Amino acid sequence: MNRINVAIDGPAGAGKSTVAKQLAQQLNLRYLDTGAMYRALTSLALELQIDLENEAALTVLAETLEFGLDEASRLTLGGQAISEEVRTPRVSQFVSLVSSYPLVRHVIVAKQRTIALAGGIVMDGRDIGTTVMIDAPVKIYLIADLDERAKRRQLELRALGHMTELADLTQQMQQRDYLDSTRATSPLRPADDAVIIDTTELLPHEVIDKILEIVRSKVDDAHNAKL
Ligand code: DC
Repeated sequence: MNRINVAIDGPAGAGKSTVAKQLAQQLNLRYLDTGAMYRALTSLALELQIDLENEAALTVLAETLEFGLDEASRLTLGGQAISEEVRTPRVSQFVSLVSSYPLVRHVIVAKQRTIALAGGIVMDGRDIGTTVMIDAPVKIYLIADLDERAKRRQLELRALGHMTELADLTQQMQQRDYLDSTRATSPLRPADDAVIIDTTELLPHEVIDKILEIVRSKVDDAHNAKL
């Protein structure tokens, strides 16, 4: 069980990171927040004042990034844990643009696959089941109503000290969903073999229990196939 790979995809605010992190802990797997990689790149590009329309320059910057995971499955950049600064509304505003470029995605996906190589990982993102780990035996696609997702994001941001109007957040999320799901390269969509879970009315532990059931049935199937 401890080398199984689990792909968790879905739109912003569907509960991916909360669920993926806790699931990884319960299964004693590593956890990779792939959105944080695109956010780190966006944050750095803003800091370095790189033109966000310049795909080539962003790709060169992406190539230089040395990502890793520490023992607590925190994403590191150049050996340092990535700070919550990558979750600012400013980074959120531009990350869909930066992550829409095919060359940038090519570089970042390769880095994600390198981290996944050893197996035993829960990854959350938008294209994990369709592109990054197409062989993952467990693929989950989380969805939730837009209003509920915006409320969740507002609470998260409040905890980080950012006050945001719910109406603004709803509009930004809608815009981000649109950009993420209509981009040409690996758009946000469920893999054909993904299990779709609507989390609108569910608590995180209820979502995790559902996924644990799916993981167990996959492990049993694999075991029986070997007998
Ligand atoms: O999950 P998040 O909100 O931190 O992701 C930030 C952005 O990064 C999101 O708008 C789309 C992009 N992203 C992506 O394109 N592919 C992934 N695997 C993860 C995130």
